[in-house]
Amino acid sequence: MQLNKTLCDIVIFGGQGDLSFRKLMPALYHLSNDGHLDPLSRIITVARFDMSHEEHIALIYEKLTEFLKPDQFDEVKFATFMQQLHVVTVSFEDQSSYQGLKKLLDLHPQRERLNYLSTAPDFFTVISKTLSILGLVTPQSRVVLEKPIGRDLHSARLINSEVLKYFEEKQIYRIDHYLGKDTVQNIMALRFSNRIFMPLWDANNIEHVQITVAESVGVEGRWGYYDQYGAMRDMIQNHLMQLLCLVAMEPPYSLHADSVRDEKVKVLRSLRPMSAADIERKTVRAQYAQGSIDGQPVPGYREGDGMQHSNTETFAALRVDIDNWRWNGVPFYLRSGKRMRQRNSEIVIQFKSVPHSIFLNQGNSISENKLVISLQPKESIQLKLMNKVPGLSDQMRLQQVDLELNSRIDSTRKPDAYERLLLDVIRSNPTLFMRLDEVEAAWKWADVILAGWADNVTPMKSYQAGTDGPTASIQLVVQDGASWNDE
Ligand code: BG6
Repeated sequence: MQLNKTLCDIVIFGGQGDLSFRKLMPALYHLSNDGHLDPLSRIITVARFDMSHEEHIALIYEKLTEFLKPDQFDEVKFATFMQQLHVVTVSFEDQSSYQGLKKLLDLHPQRERLNYLSTAPDFFTVISKTLSILGLVTPQSRVVLEKPIGRDLHSARLINSEVLKYFEEKQIYRIDHYLGKDTVQNIMALRFSNRIFMPLWDANNIEHVQITVAESVGVEGRWGYYDQYGAMRDMIQNHLMQLLCLVAMEPPYSLHADSVRDEKVKVLRSLRPMSAADIERKTVRAQYAQGSIDGQPVPGYREGDGMQHSNTETFAALRVDIDNWRWNGVPFYLRSGKRMRQRNSEIVIQFKSVPHSIFLNQGNSISENKLVISLQPKESIQLKLMNKVPGLSDQMRLQQVDLELNSRIDSTRKPDAYERLLLDVIRSNPTLFMRLDEVEAAWKWADVILAGWADNVTPMKSYQAGTDGPTASIQLVVQDGASWNDE
């Protein structure tokens, strides 16, 4: 296949942060090796501390060998990749410190230029402004903003309006890496390329929807960031909201970026705002206490560095209602947490029961159909159906079986979400990025809950590390007659 190699400069602010080492560099390494980047493209790490070129190369080498699987790292390929690596030192708030970066970028002023702001949102404005003052924002420039954009609607609006002074909306790519996951994109394929789901996808047929993103890992050294944000701002407002949008949205008229984003924003605007009574009844927040995962003891969140008095939630569960014709009366249950029993991200579409059972006299109970879309760690789509137990029994006995729609037994390497998204920015395709109005609509809804939590409308609960969360989250669904899809 003939690849369209792009010649570009990729500048990573926050280039020595966790995200850069864990995700961005491995993604760029693959893009470069797989022939998506022109070999003359440059990857410029913006460091906050002085570092020689040799030290930088040694550091990237060390990190790639740490974060890539052994069979993905190749010394020869690294030798080629390393030709593309550059490092400059910048102190974000000191304009004079950008000179090294300017000198490098001015060598190729016409080149496609991607500025990836992998920093705390507080720096988005000053970096954009300084790049503009120094003449480094060209018509070929794009800026990528890492989520979360701000920590509430007010700060998000401020950041967006400031960044918009220096970049046009079409140059701004607000990233939510969940949208780059293959399995997440597959939700659209499943819904809009299979007619069988079309008549079933509504309140007439669906009892409820569950969206779970559970992690067994903790904060992974990001205490300073995480403690300011918590599960609601770190996961629910963005990743889980995006998943909810893909499940709930109306069919877009095309795959054009604005067509898809128009439909998502309509869902976000239809989310029912919560009253104080709703917040108390429909939301759960909790922090993990010590426990064990895979037989290993795990300290509690408050045992983390300087976290003794922290009141930040590491788990959140909510019942969300969507006020529109399609979803009237269908609860969407969302939950996400750190240090849970296992890594498990899935979407469960629970269908209603049959209107009348002809099998009850036979001692059978009929379980409702479920469509289970597993995103990670395993990727699969299962439709749970009732089926006759084979045999000659005079009673017709039933059992629930799985129809595997997608087992994806495929040995080829699956590109990481960041590879897809970086390539989309390079190709100027914003479909999988969040538009300004999406981010704001999601904050508007989340802010009400966060304000209720700040007023202690929902008291903070505790859960043992290595479990499925606090009992209150079980109660949240049980009170509606539902149950989580936990094994
Ligand atoms: C990030 C969050 O956006 O997503 C992290 O900031 C979280 O806290 C991560 O661990 C989860 O991503 P994934 O792709 O591993 O599910």
